[in-house]
Amino acid sequence: MWCEDHTPGLNVPWCFYDGPAPTDSDPDPPVDPGCQTTIPPEQRIDCFSDGGASEPACLARGCLWCPDNTPGLNAPWCFYNETFENPFPEFDAYRVDCFPEGGGGKDDCEARGCYFHSSGISGSPWCYFPPDNRGYTIVGNASETSFGYRIDLRRSHTYTLFGGDVDDIRIDIEFQSDERLHIKIYDPNSQRFEVPLDMPQAGPKATNPLYKVAFSDDPIFTLNVTRTDTGTVIWDTSIGGLVFEDQYLQLATKLGSSSIYGFGEHEHHSFKHDLNFISHGMYSRDQPPTHTGNLYGVYPFYMSVEEDFNTHGVLLLNSNAQDVTLQPGPAITYRTIGGVLDYWLFLGPSPENVVQQMTGAVGRTFMPPYWAMGFQLSRYGYDHIDVVRTTVSRVQAYDIPLDVQYGDIDYMDRFMDFTYDTVNYAGLPEYVNQLKSEGIYYVIILDPCIANSEPPGTYPPYDEGTAMGVWVNGTDGVTPIVGKVWPPEGAVFPDYTNPVCHEWWIKQCLDFKQVISYDGLWIDMNEPANFLTGSTEGCEFNTLNNPPYKPKIFGDVLADKSLCPDFVHYAGKHYDVHSLYGWAEGFPSLEATRQATGKRSIVISRSTFPGASKTVGHWLGDNYSQWTNLHYSIIGMLEMSLFGMPYIGADICGFNGDAQYDMCLRWHQLGAFYPFARNHNGYGYREQDPAAWDSNFANNVRDILHVRYTLLPYVYTLFHQSHVNGSTVVRPVMHEFITDVNTHEIDRQFLWGPGLLISPVLEQDATSVDAYFPDARWYDYYTGLELSASNRGTTTTVNAPMEYLPLHVRGGCMLPTQQPGRNTIYTRSLPLGIIAALDDTDYAEGEIFWDDGESIDTYENGQYYHAELHASKGFVDAIITHDGYRGVDSLVWGTIRVFGVGASVSSVTVNSASHGDFSWNSGTGELTINNMNAPMNNDLKVGWV
Ligand code: GLC
Repeated sequence: MWCEDHTPGLNVPWCFYDGPAPTDSDPDPPVDPGCQTTIPPEQRIDCFSDGGASEPACLARGCLWCPDNTPGLNAPWCFYNETFENPFPEFDAYRVDCFPEGGGGKDDCEARGCYFHSSGISGSPWCYFPPDNRGYTIVGNASETSFGYRIDLRRSHTYTLFGGDVDDIRIDIEFQSDERLHIKIYDPNSQRFEVPLDMPQAGPKATNPLYKVAFSDDPIFTLNVTRTDTGTVIWDTSIGGLVFEDQYLQLATKLGSSSIYGFGEHEHHSFKHDLNFISHGMYSRDQPPTHTGNLYGVYPFYMSVEEDFNTHGVLLLNSNAQDVTLQPGPAITYRTIGGVLDYWLFLGPSPENVVQQMTGAVGRTFMPPYWAMGFQLSRYGYDHIDVVRTTVSRVQAYDIPLDVQYGDIDYMDRFMDFTYDTVNYAGLPEYVNQLKSEGIYYVIILDPCIANSEPPGTYPPYDEGTAMGVWVNGTDGVTPIVGKVWPPEGAVFPDYTNPVCHEWWIKQCLDFKQVISYDGLWIDMNEPANFLTGSTEGCEFNTLNNPPYKPKIFGDVLADKSLCPDFVHYAGKHYDVHSLYGWAEGFPSLEATRQATGKRSIVISRSTFPGASKTVGHWLGDNYSQWTNLHYSIIGMLEMSLFGMPYIGADICGFNGDAQYDMCLRWHQLGAFYPFARNHNGYGYREQDPAAWDSNFANNVRDILHVRYTLLPYVYTLFHQSHVNGSTVVRPVMHEFITDVNTHEIDRQFLWGPGLLISPVLEQDATSVDAYFPDARWYDYYTGLELSASNRGTTTTVNAPMEYLPLHVRGGCMLPTQQPGRNTIYTRSLPLGIIAALDDTDYAEGEIFWDDGESIDTYENGQYYHAELHASKGFVDAIITHDGYRGVDSLVWGTIRVFGVGASVSSVTVNSASHGDFSWNSGTGELTINNMNAPMNNDLKVGWV
C-alpha cells in the first residue's frame, strides 16, 4: 500500500502492508478484519478530504478506517462514523464552500459557523455557508440616493474564516444607465485598493432601466437583480456566503441560467462552461496553457444567456489573486484576496450588446493599422540573420503573402532590451530597411526587464532608469528589487504604473528607433515573469506574501515565477497590482511606438486585463504543436472576443514541440482567419514557416492567404466597428443566432462579423467537417453555390480535402473585398470588390470603412471613407456616407459577385452605362461582374436584368 501522510510529528510510513507483514513462518498472514461499519461505502463521508490519509492518522481523528476498492466508487477509506444526513438536498447544487482552502472536518466547519452535511452531488462541498444566518444586516435605513441606493451593513455574527473581518461595509448601487448597473461593496472606513481603470462615474439614476433591484434583510441582507421585462433572475445573493475580510472577500450569486461563457485567461476545452463545481484561478502568470489553469492575463468577466435568450454580462473589476467556482445551481462563487467587490452588470439584451456595453465601460480597442491585417512570421531562435533572410526569401519565392516579420529575443545582445547582436545579427538595421522597401514591416520583441549589471555608463536604459527611479522597489519603497528573467544574469523590473517610468520607456524606445527602424512592439513576459521565486533574495514570510487563503492558482506561493507580493509599485503593493503589469505596460508602449514611427503602429502583449485592448492586441501564448490546440485556439479567440480583445490569434502551427505537415497545413487554413495571423515557433523546434515543407504545402498556404487578403477590407471594416461600437470581429455563431440553442455550444466554427462562417478541419486525417448551418441562406464562398434548403438548421457534412477550408457567406450580408497580392502595400492600390449574398427576401447589406491604414485617429479626425452597401434583385450599390480620405480618388471598384441570383441575367449596367464583362452561372446562381473600373469616390450603382 502507498498512502502519503503528512501528519506532523507522526512520521508514519507511506509504503506499508495492507494488513500484518508477512514473515518466514507465516508468509500469508490473515488480514485483520479491521473496522466494522454499517455505513455502506457509497454513503461514507470523507474524514480526510485534505488528502494523505493513513490508518493511524485516521483513527487519531476519531474516524473509521475501512479500505474499500469497489470499482468505480472511489469510496473514502477514512470516514466519519455517521452520515450527516442532509436536511436540504435541494440546496446541494448551490452550496458555497466554507473550506475553500481544502480540508475541514465537522468541528472545524462548525467553528466557522457553517453547516456540515453530506451531499448528493459530486463536488458539492460538505462544509458550506448557511444561506440564512451568517452574513450582514442593514444598519439603519437603506437610503435612496440620486444614483440609486447606498446601504450600510453590519456583520451579523462573530465567526471568521481567515481573520481580519470588516464589521461595517457599504454597498453602493448605481443605476448608471438603462443597460449598466454598478454594484460596489467596500469598506467605508478604510481605503482599500481599487483597480485604476477609468470607469464611468455615477450620474443621475437611469430612468428606464432594463433591470430591477430588490433587497431584503430577513434574516440577513440579500440583493437581487432581475430583468425588468421578463422577471428573469440575473444576480441573486440569497445563497449566502458574503464574506468581507481583509484578505478574503467572497460573494456568491444564484443565476437564472446555466449558460455561462467567459472567465480568463485560461485554456478551456469548451466555450460553454461546465458548471459542475469547476474552479478557475485568476492571477497573471507565465504559464504554457494548461486546462483551466491561470495564464497570462486576467478577465473576471462572464456572459450568460438567459432561458429566453436575453443575454447579460458581469464584470468583477478586481485585480487581486482570485478564483471563481461555477456551480450547477446554477450559481457562481467569487473569491478574491484583496481590493473591493466591484461588480458591473451589462444587461444586453443581445450578446453583441453585452460586449459593446462592457467595452464601452472598460475601453474599446485601438484601431490596428491595415498591415496588421496581413500574414505575419516569427520564430524564437532563428539565431542568425541569415536564417531570417533565407526564411523570408523562400516565403517570397512562393509568393506567399507576408506583411510582418518579427524579431524575437535572439536579435538582442545577451537578451538585453534596446540592443542587437552585432555578430549574429550583423546588418540587422540595413536588413530591416530592406524589408520595408519590399513592403514588409518589422516588429521587435521587448521584455519588460532591464539588465542591472552592465558596467556603469555602458547601458543607458539601466543608468537612466536608475537615475529616474523607475524600478519596482522592495518593501522599503526605495531599493530596486532584482530578479532573473530576460536577461537571466539579473534584471530590474520597470514599474509601468509610474508616470515617470512611461517617460523613461518612451525615451528608450525612441532612442532605439534610431538603431533599428521597427514598426511595432511585441511586449512579452509581462505577467511579470521571473525565473526566480520573488527575487534574488526570495520573499519575506508575511501575510501579503503568504496570505491565509491562496486562490486556486499554480504555484505554492503567489511569488512563484514572479515577484514578491509585498514589493512596492507607484500604484500600490505588488499584491494588488500584479495582474495589471501588462495592462500598465501597454499605454507607454503604444505611445512610444507611435511617437517613434509617427504612425498608428501596433503593440502585441502577452499579459492583458479588461481595457487592455485600448492599447494592445494579444496572442494566446506558448501553445503546443498538437491537433487539440487548433480547437482550443478557437475557444480562446471566442473568449477574447467576449473580453473585448478583438486583435487575437494563436501561434500558427504551435509554439512548443515539432509541428507536423498535415497539422501545420490545417493550422494555416484556420490561422488565415485569426485576426492576428502569425506563424510563430519555439526554440529549437523544426522549421514551420509555410515555405519550410514542400511546394504543395506552400502553394496551399498561398491560396488560403489569398482568400484572407481578398477579405481584408471586410475584416478591417469589422475592426473599425469594433473600435467605434465595441462589436466583435471573430464572432461566436450564437451571437448572430441566439434563439437557436444549437448554436450555444458551437466552438469548432466561428464567424467573421455577421457574414462569414469558417468551419475548419481540426482533426488529423479528417477530410470532411460536420458543420452546423443556422437557419439562413448560406453560400459556398468559392463557388457561390447555395447550401441546400434542407440543410438549413442542421449539422451537415461538408467535404474538406487537405487543401480545402470550408467557408460560407451568409445570405443578407455584403463583404467588401480587394484583389489579393504579396502584401498590403501592394494590394491597397488594387481594385476593390463586393460579395453580395442575397437573403430570403433577396436583400443584402454591408459597409466599408477605408482610410490610409496607418495614420493615428483617422476616424476621430474624419480622415476616412465610409460607404453603405446594399443589394437586392437587380441591383447592387455603394453609397458614400463619409468622404474624408482622398486616397480613394485613385481606387476603383473592380469585381462584384452576387450570390443567389435565381434568374438568368442578360444585361448589366455600371453607373448607368452598359457593361458587357459579366457572367451568370446557371448551376450556382452566381452573377459575376468583372473589370467595372468604377471610381470609388462616386456612389456605385450596378443594375442587371
Ligand atoms: C515567451 C513568449 C514566446 C517567445 C519567447 C522568447 O515564451 O511567449 O512567444 O518566443 O518567450 O522570447
